[in-house]
Amino acid sequence: MSEKDERVAVRGLRDVAAAESKISYVDPNGALYYLGYNIDDLIERVVYEEVAYLLIYKKLPNMQELYNFKTKLVSEMKLPHPIVENIKSVPINCCPMDVLRTQVSHLSEHDPEGKVFSEPANIRRAIRLIAQVPTIVATLYRSLREKPVPAPKKEFDLVQNFLYMLKGTIPNEKAAKVMHRFMTLHIDHGFNASTFAARVTASTNSDMYSAVTSAIGTLKGPLHGGAGEKVMEMLDDMFLDEKVEEYIQGLLDDKKKIMGFGHRIYKTQDPRTKHLRDIVEDFCESFTTSYFYDKCKRIERIVYDRKKIYPNVDFYAAVALDALGIQKEFFPLFFASSRISGWVAHILEQYEDAVLLRPSQKYVGELGRIFVPIEHR
Ligand code: CMC
Repeated sequence: MSEKDERVAVRGLRDVAAAESKISYVDPNGALYYLGYNIDDLIERVVYEEVAYLLIYKKLPNMQELYNFKTKLVSEMKLPHPIVENIKSVPINCCPMDVLRTQVSHLSEHDPEGKVFSEPANIRRAIRLIAQVPTIVATLYRSLREKPVPAPKKEFDLVQNFLYMLKGTIPNEKAAKVMHRFMTLHIDHGFNASTFAARVTASTNSDMYSAVTSAIGTLKGPLHGGAGEKVMEMLDDMFLDEKVEEYIQGLLDDKKKIMGFGHRIYKTQDPRTKHLRDIVEDFCESFTTSYFYDKCKRIERIVYDRKKIYPNVDFYAAVALDALGIQKEFFPLFFASSRISGWVAHILEQYEDAVLLRPSQKYVGELGRIFVPIEHR
């Protein structure tokens, strides 16, 4: 073949609709819908588990259904013993996202339903993953501090248990409410990179653990879920107030990206930002949070004046997690602990769609090269 490949490559798959989905709609004009519900109507009126149920079963639960779902989730939080032992043996300087990715992969070895691939088995698997990902995170958090992780309590929901297992103390009402809001805001977001990665893996009819492992590896990158950690590094870096302007302008002069800003889809404010800003405001009685908050507002103004771009979900989420006392290396793990519900919902939808996701390419390399045997090169 000597003809030029005439296909047009869509760089970054920008604006390519890779499949149909009913799970969430990211409206470029600044709105986000879960199964048709605007997040502005949900935040503070629902708990995280309610939205996880919505994503899996495509309807909001009634009181009894929610109770049963929450009970089921808590009953599934316990990890198989070998997974706990694996986590305890990781080196102190490990990358927490690598541990999460690897242990989710290991969970497949302990799946009580083995290789059964029916829809009901996959829904049960999805529920186990929603329950077990936060437990992996809490177990790692505690074990890196050489502290035991407490067993989940029946009287707590998944979110309260997550905080309880992480901190080792009973979470107060405010922290639990904030966590429900935070996790609901992160639960799903259309065909973002990690969800797409999960769907590509699922589209080969590979198992759910493989698909979630692909998603975690993709979320890790600083252009996606790793951005929050970089936001905190930046806030820590510009130690003095007077340096904020100079620091940000300097990055922009050097054509560097400001972490926590910009978005592929939103052409206006990210609809999650105002809710995350509210969460941070709730913690502003603490000197550190109020100090970071003021800095963030200044950065927002500087970046908007210069680039006309807005903060994305990771900007204020970083300060919110810091206010909850979480160290920055764990920020993407909190993102994953919420997004797991979105990932498994998309994996189930992809199984139902039953089509291989396999794009083409535009070949721009050479053709017809003359082969030279190795001894003559
Ligand atoms: N700082 C400075 N300039 C930016 C930024 C930023 N964070 N984001 C976009 N721009 C500029 C970019 O330089 C370009 O300007 P110009 O046209 O003058 O060259 C223009 O905006 C378009 O940028 P792009 O990189 O082509 O946009 P994209 O859609 O490919 O990238 C993005 C989207 C999120 C990867 C990018 O905005 C970015 O790298 N942001 C920083 C990392 C970040 O915060 N990631 C979290 C994303 S949201 C949560 C999630 O999904 O995980």
